[in-house]
Amino acid sequence: MNPITFSISTTLSLLLLLTTTTLSTTLTTDITALKSILSSINPTTIPPNSCLSTWNFTSNPCTTPHLTHFLCGLSCTNNHITHLTFDRAGYSGTLSPLVSQLVQLIIIDLSDNKLSGPIPISIFSLPNLQTLNLRSNSFSGTIPPLISALKSIETIDVSHNVISGELPDSLSGLGLTRLDLSFNKIVGRIPKLPSMLIELALRDNLLSGDLLKTSFGELTQLEVVELGGNSLTGTIPGWFFLLPALQQVNLANNGFTGIEVLKPVNSNLIAFDAGYNKITGYLSSNFSNYPMLSSLTLRYNKLHGPIPTGYSQSTTLKRLFLDGNYLNGMPPKEFFTGKSSVSGSLGDNCLKSCPVSSQLCSKSQKPSAICQQAYRGKVKQKS
Ligand SMILES: *[C@@H]1O[C@H](CO)[C@@H](O)[C@H](O)[C@H]1NC(C)=O
Ligand SMILES: *[C@@H]1O[C@H](CO)[C@@H](O)[C@H](O)[C@H]1NC(C)=O
Repeated sequence: MNPITFSISTTLSLLLLLTTTTLSTTLTTDITALKSILSSINPTTIPPNSCLSTWNFTSNPCTTPHLTHFLCGLSCTNNHITHLTFDRAGYSGTLSPLVSQLVQLIIIDLSDNKLSGPIPISIFSLPNLQTLNLRSNSFSGTIPPLISALKSIETIDVSHNVISGELPDSLSGLGLTRLDLSFNKIVGRIPKLPSMLIELALRDNLLSGDLLKTSFGELTQLEVVELGGNSLTGTIPGWFFLLPALQQVNLANNGFTGIEVLKPVNSNLIAFDAGYNKITGYLSSNFSNYPMLSSLTLRYNKLHGPIPTGYSQSTTLKRLFLDGNYLNGMPPKEFFTGKSSVSGSLGDNCLKSCPVSSQLCSKSQKPSAICQQAYRGKVKQKS
């Protein structure tokens, strides 16, 4: 071997050594994290043939193909874990805070298991995390202000857990497009929301206060709003209907007392449900001007006055639930002439001549004594 060849081969092997060392040291922190994640799961809840049952650290988690070990639950890129996705095996235990050592994580999906304890705060420092899905577990604690450190986050689904406390104001700094925290125990007001949101689901929590323009005002992409089953109050404001991308809105089962419906501007609103509130006043004729509106529910409120004739002339309206109010007068004839294909209910109101032959009128109207009482005050006010 001449000296030049020797020196080249030494350099090469040194380089090789350096490269492998770098790779394996990086992976070591990932492996430490994975071992900690596995040991935080109650071993009696790891069934045979589940993903976690194949996590055997005698082999390298990022080496493929795996024949017996690490058969699922992970994806790697360049020897770094990028996806942590548990199967729905019913694992219980907690999520180890060392999860934040998996610095290249893009997706965490631990949905439909029985994990409990707080969401480790360290998770919010993951710089590349795009999807956090902890749906249907038993995670508790609050959503901390530190959540704003999730610089790459797009989707958060922590629905069906036992998260409590208030939503932090820092939420608005995130680039989130989808936020689902439905079916938890979140209290307080709706804070300023992230301006890129397309889907907001906070149904069945303990939220209170009014719908504020400071929370929703900049949400030009918002399509889906699920806020049913909270304790929201005040008037459903007119500007809310003018959010330009709005398609589906559910505000049912809250404590709203009024509604202001403005004439639409290029509206895509397809479905609106504000049933089971305490909304008073008259039914707005402006709903019939929404060009895409297919489903309208205002059942079980305290609405008075007639059903605007425009409702029966809409060509898009397919489902109309106005039952359980104090609506009076004659319902528009077109509902019953076969021209309109609207289904739903107009029952349990104070309507005159609602033909029982129509499915819309199959639920009977209120007894006249109740209707007289409901309108007695109003007549006095007018005179
Ligand atoms: C890991 O796999 C090896 C064989 O590859 C086996 O001997 C060992 O018992 C396994 N360890 C666990 C914890 O399953
Ligand atoms: C209909 O909308 C207009 C403005 O868009 C508003 O001035 C009016 O009060 C609304 N009418 C009803 C009955 O809600």
